[in-house]
Amino acid sequence: MANNSITVIDNRTGNKFDFPIVQPTIGPDVVDISSFYKNTGMFTFDRGFTSTASCRSNITYIDGGAGKLMYRGYDIGYLATKKTFLDATYLLLHKELPTKEQLDNFNLELKKRSFINESMKKLFDAFPDNAHPMAILSSAVAALSAFYSDSLDMDTPEEVIEMAHRIIAKIPTIAAFSYRYSKGLPVIYPDLDKGFTENFLYMLRAYPHGYVELKPIEVEALDTIFTLHADHEQNASTTAVRVVASTQAHPYAAVSSGVGALWGRAHGGANESVIRQLEMIGSVDNVDKFIAKAKDKNDPFRLMGFGHRVYKNFDPRATILKELRDKLTDELDIDSHLLEIANKIEKIALSDEYFVKRHLYPNIDFYSGLILNALRIPKEMFAVIFVMGRTPGWIAQWVELKEQKDMKIARPRQLYLGPLERTPKS
Ligand code: ACO
Repeated sequence: MANNSITVIDNRTGNKFDFPIVQPTIGPDVVDISSFYKNTGMFTFDRGFTSTASCRSNITYIDGGAGKLMYRGYDIGYLATKKTFLDATYLLLHKELPTKEQLDNFNLELKKRSFINESMKKLFDAFPDNAHPMAILSSAVAALSAFYSDSLDMDTPEEVIEMAHRIIAKIPTIAAFSYRYSKGLPVIYPDLDKGFTENFLYMLRAYPHGYVELKPIEVEALDTIFTLHADHEQNASTTAVRVVASTQAHPYAAVSSGVGALWGRAHGGANESVIRQLEMIGSVDNVDKFIAKAKDKNDPFRLMGFGHRVYKNFDPRATILKELRDKLTDELDIDSHLLEIANKIEKIALSDEYFVKRHLYPNIDFYSGLILNALRIPKEMFAVIFVMGRTPGWIAQWVELKEQKDMKIARPRQLYLGPLERTPKS
């Protein structure tokens, strides 16, 4: 038996099987069970992948116990407070932080690609009024492959980078158009004189030829939210992107699947649900009643914005956003009614035994929902904002998967508990 291996004993037969232990740069050791079925004739069962590393990755590291998050080795606190979202995007894609010149060039390349083919407007037109912007966004991202079919070859590095730039540059425009169409508002084209995040807020808020006031603190807050969402290792939507990419589908299809996965309220839809839930609670007087519901085993009600699969002490992104929320509360006109309810819930949850025992701390969505609300971004756009932030991560993960020559199509096994073969009644 090698030192760096683990032995599994089948107690039924006494047979022993060795599996290698692989050491990561940092984090728990990993048992390589790729040969498990071949050697033992059995599958492993891991509901929700709580113990399974689905890939090798050099991009993002999370230590859930210590509340640590790093992109390419840089701490999230440093990136969120000292760097911009475009710096983080460049870092995720190109593995290094950009120099000033590299950042300027990158910004220019994205600006050049920020417009979308005019014919795509027919697609937006086809959606009914009040369509959810996520429905429009997921369709429009997949449709990009049809409108930009000149660069779809994933074996040509130049075409890969072209697709990456197009997706990152066009998603804010599609996102803003999705919202404007869903409300019957005239669309606003990108303003090339504005920075990435400022331009998005402008496309969301402006009227043709009209003046729109964008406070620097608003742009800064949204930029921070984007940076904090830029990657989060193998979360549900990134896993969806990787699974689709493993079939050799192009990134438009993969990213569109990521949008779908992120839509759910247990994932990117949580920040919208936070605000909807606060509105439903309605008054500080009702908080205790809803806390009791959240704690009741027989009640499916959950406090939105609390708990995390990986962070079990605190979410470092939530810590940064909590500070940002407090700063914005002083400078912007925040809905103090919702804030009062949120503050009471936060206070109770941080001290109540039920939440403390289960490590249910406020997560990033609790604070991002409140901040986006303060930025007057409509609730139905919250998940879209999450998509805009997460897109560079999805693209970096897609590129990494493509670079790994031993990459396999994702094809999990199952624990079949259905009927045995049945005899048809003739
Ligand atoms: N409110 C009340 N109880 C909760 C909550 C909550 N928000 N979250 C978990 N619990 C309880 C569960 O009932 C369970 O209790 P039990 O041990 O008595 O059975 C225990 O805490 C563990 O819960 P799990 O669902 O097993 O934890 P898991 O790690 O699988 O789920 C999740 C994490 C999905 C985030 C969950 O905490 C949740 O639903 N939170 C609310 C939704 C939310 O805020 N999602 C955003 C996640 S962050 C992101 O996607 C960026």
